[in-house]
Amino acid sequence: MSSTEHPTVDIVRVYPDTSWADDGPTRHVEQAVEDGLVLSFPQLPFELAESERRFLDPRWADGKAKNISVRWPAGELRGAAGDAADLAALKAMIVRYAEQSEAFALRLFPHYRGHLQRGNTSFRPVDVAGRETSWRKDDTRLHIDAFPSNPMHGTRLLRVFCNVNPNGEPRRWRVGEPFEALARRYLPSIPRPAPGSAWLMETLHITKRRRTEYDHVMLQLHDRAKADAAFQSGSPQARVDFAPRTTWVVFSDQVLHAAMGGQHMMEQTFYLAPERQHRPEASPLGVLERLMGRPLR
Ligand SMILES: [Fe+2]
Repeated sequence: MSSTEHPTVDIVRVYPDTSWADDGPTRHVEQAVEDGLVLSFPQLPFELAESERRFLDPRWADGKAKNISVRWPAGELRGAAGDAADLAALKAMIVRYAEQSEAFALRLFPHYRGHLQRGNTSFRPVDVAGRETSWRKDDTRLHIDAFPSNPMHGTRLLRVFCNVNPNGEPRRWRVGEPFEALARRYLPSIPRPAPGSAWLMETLHITKRRRTEYDHVMLQLHDRAKADAAFQSGSPQARVDFAPRTTWVVFSDQVLHAAMGGQHMMEQTFYLAPERQHRPEASPLGVLERLMGRPLR
Protein backbone atom coordinates (compact mmCIF):
# COMPACT_ATOMS: atom_id res chain seq x y z
CA MET A 1 0.00 0.00 0.00
CA SER A 2 1.35 3.44 -0.84
CA SER A 3 1.63 6.11 1.82
CA THR A 4 -1.23 8.05 0.23
CA GLU A 5 -3.83 5.42 1.14
CA HIS A 6 -3.88 6.26 4.84
CA PRO A 7 -4.03 9.53 6.78
CA THR A 8 -0.63 10.65 7.99
CA VAL A 9 0.54 11.65 11.47
CA ASP A 10 3.16 14.17 12.51
CA ILE A 11 4.60 13.17 15.88
CA VAL A 12 8.37 13.48 15.48
CA ARG A 13 10.09 16.52 16.99
CA VAL A 14 13.72 17.19 16.10
CA TYR A 15 16.24 18.68 18.54
CA PRO A 16 19.79 19.93 17.87
CA ASP A 17 21.73 18.34 20.75
CA THR A 18 25.22 17.06 20.01
CA SER A 19 26.13 16.04 23.57
CA TRP A 20 24.76 13.51 26.07
CA ALA A 21 26.08 15.53 28.97
CA ASP A 22 24.49 18.28 31.02
CA ASP A 23 25.69 21.07 28.74
CA GLY A 24 23.26 20.18 25.92
CA PRO A 25 20.52 22.66 25.00
CA THR A 26 17.34 20.58 25.39
CA ARG A 27 15.73 20.26 28.83
CA HIS A 28 12.29 20.33 30.42
CA VAL A 29 10.62 18.52 27.53
CA GLU A 30 8.38 16.37 29.76
CA GLN A 31 5.27 17.72 28.09
CA ALA A 32 6.42 16.73 24.59
CA VAL A 33 7.23 13.14 25.52
CA GLU A 34 4.09 12.79 27.70
CA ASP A 35 1.98 14.02 24.77
CA GLY A 36 3.16 10.98 22.81
CA LEU A 37 5.71 12.68 20.59
CA VAL A 38 8.92 11.04 19.40
CA LEU A 39 11.90 13.17 20.43
CA SER A 40 14.58 12.80 17.75
CA PHE A 41 18.22 13.88 18.06
CA PRO A 42 19.83 13.35 14.64
CA GLN A 43 23.20 14.76 15.77
CA LEU A 44 23.57 12.69 18.92
CA PRO A 45 25.57 9.51 18.18
CA PHE A 46 26.66 6.85 20.63
CA GLU A 47 30.34 6.73 19.76
CA LEU A 48 32.05 3.35 19.62
CA ALA A 49 35.76 2.97 20.23
CA GLU A 50 37.73 1.48 17.35
CA SER A 51 38.10 -1.71 19.41
CA GLU A 52 34.30 -1.90 19.87
CA ARG A 53 33.39 -1.86 16.18
CA ARG A 54 33.91 -5.62 15.99
CA PHE A 55 30.80 -5.99 18.16
CA LEU A 56 28.64 -4.74 15.27
CA ASP A 57 28.09 -8.33 14.21
CA PRO A 58 25.22 -10.70 15.00
CA ARG A 59 27.69 -13.46 15.84
CA TRP A 60 27.99 -12.00 19.37
CA ALA A 61 24.35 -12.87 20.05
CA ASP A 62 24.04 -16.33 21.59
CA GLY A 63 21.11 -17.24 19.34
CA LYS A 64 18.59 -17.75 22.14
CA ALA A 65 17.68 -14.09 22.73
CA LYS A 66 17.14 -11.53 19.98
CA ASN A 67 19.08 -8.95 22.01
CA ILE A 68 22.26 -8.76 24.01
CA SER A 69 21.44 -7.00 27.26
CA VAL A 70 22.67 -5.87 30.63
CA ARG A 71 20.17 -6.46 33.43
CA TRP A 72 19.98 -4.07 36.35
CA PRO A 73 20.51 -3.67 39.25
CA ALA A 74 22.92 -6.64 39.13
CA GLY A 75 24.57 -5.45 35.90
CA GLU A 76 24.80 -8.93 34.41
CA LEU A 77 25.33 -9.50 30.71
CA ARG A 78 22.75 -11.71 28.97
CA GLY A 79 22.35 -13.12 25.48
CA ALA A 80 26.00 -12.85 24.39
CA ALA A 81 28.52 -15.52 23.38
CA GLY A 82 32.32 -15.09 23.50
CA ASP A 83 35.35 -15.47 25.71
CA ALA A 84 35.66 -13.66 29.02
CA ALA A 85 37.73 -10.73 27.77
CA ASP A 86 35.43 -10.10 24.81
CA LEU A 87 32.33 -10.29 26.97
CA ALA A 88 33.82 -7.84 29.48
CA ALA A 89 34.51 -5.36 26.67
CA LEU A 90 31.05 -5.85 25.22
CA LYS A 91 29.47 -5.32 28.61
CA ALA A 92 31.53 -2.14 29.17
CA MET A 93 30.18 -0.73 25.90
CA ILE A 94 26.58 -1.44 26.90
CA VAL A 95 27.08 -0.06 30.42
CA ARG A 96 28.47 3.14 28.92
CA TYR A 97 25.28 3.49 26.91
CA ALA A 98 23.24 3.00 30.09
CA GLU A 99 25.14 5.76 31.87
CA GLN A 100 25.05 8.23 28.98
CA SER A 101 21.37 7.71 28.26
CA GLU A 102 20.49 8.03 31.95
CA ALA A 103 22.33 11.35 32.28
CA PHE A 104 20.61 12.46 29.08
CA ALA A 105 17.12 11.44 30.26
CA LEU A 106 17.58 13.27 33.54
CA ARG A 107 18.55 16.43 31.65
CA LEU A 108 15.59 16.16 29.27
CA PHE A 109 13.16 15.34 32.07
CA PRO A 110 14.32 16.91 35.34
CA HIS A 111 10.81 16.43 36.74
CA TYR A 112 11.52 12.65 36.80
CA ARG A 113 14.73 12.98 38.80
CA GLY A 114 14.78 10.50 41.68
CA HIS A 115 11.90 8.52 40.14
CA LEU A 116 13.34 7.14 36.92
CA GLN A 117 14.25 3.51 37.44
CA ARG A 118 16.84 1.97 35.13
CA GLY A 119 15.59 -1.12 33.30
CA ASN A 120 17.45 -3.35 30.85
CA THR A 121 20.03 -1.91 28.50
CA SER A 122 20.16 -3.72 25.19
CA PHE A 123 22.36 -3.95 22.13
CA ARG A 124 20.58 -5.30 19.05
CA PRO A 125 23.07 -6.47 16.40
CA VAL A 126 20.54 -8.69 14.65
CA ASP A 127 18.76 -7.44 11.53
CA VAL A 128 15.08 -6.68 12.16
CA ALA A 129 14.22 -8.28 8.82
CA GLY A 130 15.71 -11.63 9.87
CA ARG A 131 13.44 -12.23 12.82
CA GLU A 132 11.02 -15.07 12.56
CA THR A 133 7.99 -14.57 14.79
CA SER A 134 4.31 -15.23 15.37
CA TRP A 135 1.89 -12.39 14.63
CA ARG A 136 1.74 -11.49 18.32
CA LYS A 137 5.54 -11.11 18.47
CA ASP A 138 5.78 -9.47 15.04
CA ASP A 139 7.07 -5.99 15.81
CA THR A 140 6.82 -4.94 12.15
CA ARG A 141 3.12 -4.46 12.99
CA LEU A 142 2.05 -1.22 14.69
CA HIS A 143 1.77 -1.81 18.44
CA ILE A 144 2.19 -0.33 21.88
CA ASP A 145 4.59 -2.17 24.17
CA ALA A 146 2.78 -4.52 26.57
CA PHE A 147 4.01 -7.90 27.78
CA PRO A 148 1.95 -11.00 28.64
CA SER A 149 4.21 -12.20 31.45
CA ASN A 150 5.17 -8.84 32.90
CA PRO A 151 2.22 -6.78 34.20
CA MET A 152 3.22 -3.11 34.58
CA HIS A 153 0.32 -1.86 36.76
CA GLY A 154 0.47 1.49 34.94
CA THR A 155 4.25 1.99 35.20
CA ARG A 156 5.57 3.84 32.16
CA LEU A 157 8.14 2.51 29.68
CA LEU A 158 10.46 5.29 28.60
CA ARG A 159 12.99 4.22 25.99
CA VAL A 160 16.14 5.85 24.62
CA PHE A 161 17.24 4.35 21.28
CA CYS A 162 20.33 5.03 19.21
CA ASN A 163 21.11 3.75 15.71
CA VAL A 164 24.76 2.61 15.66
CA ASN A 165 24.68 1.10 12.18
CA PRO A 166 28.12 1.55 10.51
CA ASN A 167 26.90 1.18 6.91
CA GLY A 168 24.52 4.11 6.57
CA GLU A 169 21.44 1.98 7.11
CA PRO A 170 18.57 3.75 8.88
CA ARG A 171 16.37 2.24 11.56
CA ARG A 172 13.05 2.25 9.77
CA TRP A 173 9.93 2.73 11.88
CA ARG A 174 6.30 3.39 11.30
CA VAL A 175 4.45 5.41 13.94
CA GLY A 176 0.70 5.62 14.36
CA GLU A 177 -2.28 7.49 15.73
CA PRO A 178 -2.40 8.92 19.30
CA PHE A 179 -2.98 6.52 22.21
CA GLU A 180 -6.46 7.86 22.94
CA ALA A 181 -7.57 7.20 19.36
CA LEU A 182 -6.26 3.64 19.62
CA ALA A 183 -8.08 3.16 22.93
CA ARG A 184 -11.36 4.54 21.58
CA ARG A 185 -11.04 2.28 18.53
CA TYR A 186 -10.87 -1.00 20.48
CA LEU A 187 -12.21 -0.39 24.01
CA PRO A 188 -15.88 -1.04 23.14
CA SER A 189 -15.01 -4.59 22.05
CA ILE A 190 -12.66 -5.52 24.91
CA PRO A 191 -14.39 -7.71 27.52
CA ARG A 192 -13.53 -7.61 31.20
CA PRO A 193 -10.95 -10.20 32.28
CA ALA A 194 -12.41 -13.58 33.20
CA PRO A 195 -13.04 -13.87 36.97
CA GLY A 196 -10.13 -15.63 38.68
CA SER A 197 -7.88 -15.47 35.62
CA ALA A 198 -5.42 -12.97 37.13
CA TRP A 199 -5.10 -15.11 40.29
CA LEU A 200 -4.62 -18.27 38.25
CA MET A 201 -1.94 -16.78 35.96
CA GLU A 202 -0.04 -15.44 38.96
CA THR A 203 -0.32 -18.76 40.81
CA LEU A 204 0.92 -20.69 37.77
CA HIS A 205 3.73 -18.13 37.26
CA ILE A 206 2.45 -17.31 33.79
CA THR A 207 2.68 -13.72 35.02
CA LYS A 208 5.40 -12.35 37.30
CA ARG A 209 2.79 -10.57 39.43
CA ARG A 210 -0.96 -10.02 39.40
CA ARG A 211 -2.32 -8.90 36.02
CA THR A 212 -4.56 -5.92 36.73
CA GLU A 213 -7.41 -4.74 34.51
CA TYR A 214 -4.99 -2.07 33.24
CA ASP A 215 -2.61 -4.80 32.06
CA HIS A 216 -5.49 -6.77 30.54
CA VAL A 217 -6.62 -3.76 28.51
CA MET A 218 -3.10 -2.83 27.41
CA LEU A 219 -2.45 -6.40 26.19
CA GLN A 220 -5.76 -6.41 24.37
CA LEU A 221 -4.86 -3.12 22.65
CA HIS A 222 -1.49 -4.59 21.67
CA ASP A 223 -3.02 -7.80 20.31
CA ARG A 224 -6.03 -6.29 18.57
CA ALA A 225 -3.92 -3.72 16.76
CA LYS A 226 -1.46 -6.35 15.57
CA ALA A 227 -4.22 -8.74 14.47
CA ASP A 228 -6.18 -6.10 12.55
CA ALA A 229 -4.91 -5.97 8.95
CA ALA A 230 -7.17 -3.05 8.04
CA PHE A 231 -5.81 -1.08 10.98
CA GLN A 232 -2.23 -1.92 10.06
CA SER A 233 -2.54 -0.68 6.49
CA GLY A 234 -5.23 1.98 6.72
CA SER A 235 -4.94 3.74 10.09
CA PRO A 236 -3.22 7.13 10.41
CA GLN A 237 0.53 6.57 10.33
CA ALA A 238 3.86 7.78 9.02
CA ARG A 239 7.18 6.25 8.09
CA VAL A 240 10.15 7.52 10.04
CA ASP A 241 13.76 6.74 9.18
CA PHE A 242 16.26 7.20 11.99
CA ALA A 243 19.64 7.60 10.31
CA PRO A 244 22.80 6.21 11.88
CA ARG A 245 24.07 8.46 14.70
CA THR A 246 20.49 9.41 15.59
CA THR A 247 19.11 9.04 19.12
CA TRP A 248 15.37 9.06 19.80
CA VAL A 249 13.28 9.00 22.97
CA VAL A 250 9.73 7.76 23.34
CA PHE A 251 7.18 6.36 25.78
CA SER A 252 6.82 3.01 23.99
CA ASP A 253 3.75 1.98 26.03
CA GLN A 254 1.95 4.99 24.50
CA VAL A 255 3.29 5.62 21.01
CA LEU A 256 2.14 3.20 18.31
CA HIS A 257 5.30 2.01 16.58
CA ALA A 258 6.55 -0.70 14.24
CA ALA A 259 10.16 -1.64 13.50
CA MET A 260 10.32 -2.20 9.75
CA GLY A 261 14.04 -2.57 9.27
CA GLY A 262 17.53 -1.84 10.43
CA GLN A 263 20.44 -3.44 12.23
CA HIS A 264 22.66 -2.41 15.13
CA MET A 265 20.85 -0.37 17.72
CA MET A 266 21.29 0.52 21.38
CA GLU A 267 18.27 0.78 23.66
CA GLN A 268 17.83 1.80 27.28
CA THR A 269 14.54 1.27 29.11
CA PHE A 270 13.50 3.36 32.10
CA TYR A 271 10.48 2.81 34.32
CA LEU A 272 8.47 5.68 35.73
CA ALA A 273 5.44 5.56 37.99
CA PRO A 274 2.62 7.47 36.25
CA GLU A 275 2.11 9.58 39.40
CA ARG A 276 5.58 11.01 38.81
CA GLN A 277 4.75 12.37 35.38
CA HIS A 278 4.37 16.08 34.85
CA ARG A 279 0.78 15.31 33.83
CA PRO A 280 -0.30 11.88 35.18
CA GLU A 281 -3.64 12.19 33.39
CA ALA A 282 -1.82 11.97 30.05
CA SER A 283 -0.52 8.45 30.86
CA PRO A 284 -2.17 5.38 29.31
CA LEU A 285 -3.52 4.60 32.80
CA GLY A 286 -4.98 8.11 33.08
CA VAL A 287 -6.50 7.99 29.60
CA LEU A 288 -7.99 4.52 30.06
CA GLU A 289 -9.43 5.31 33.50
CA ARG A 290 -11.06 8.46 32.11
CA LEU A 291 -12.52 6.64 29.11
CA MET A 292 -13.71 3.65 31.16
CA GLY A 293 -14.88 5.62 34.16
CA ARG A 294 -13.30 3.43 36.84
CA PRO A 295 -9.95 2.68 38.45
CA LEU A 296 -8.00 -0.03 36.64
CA ARG A 297 -5.46 -1.15 39.23
FE1 LIG B 1 7.76 -2.23 20.56
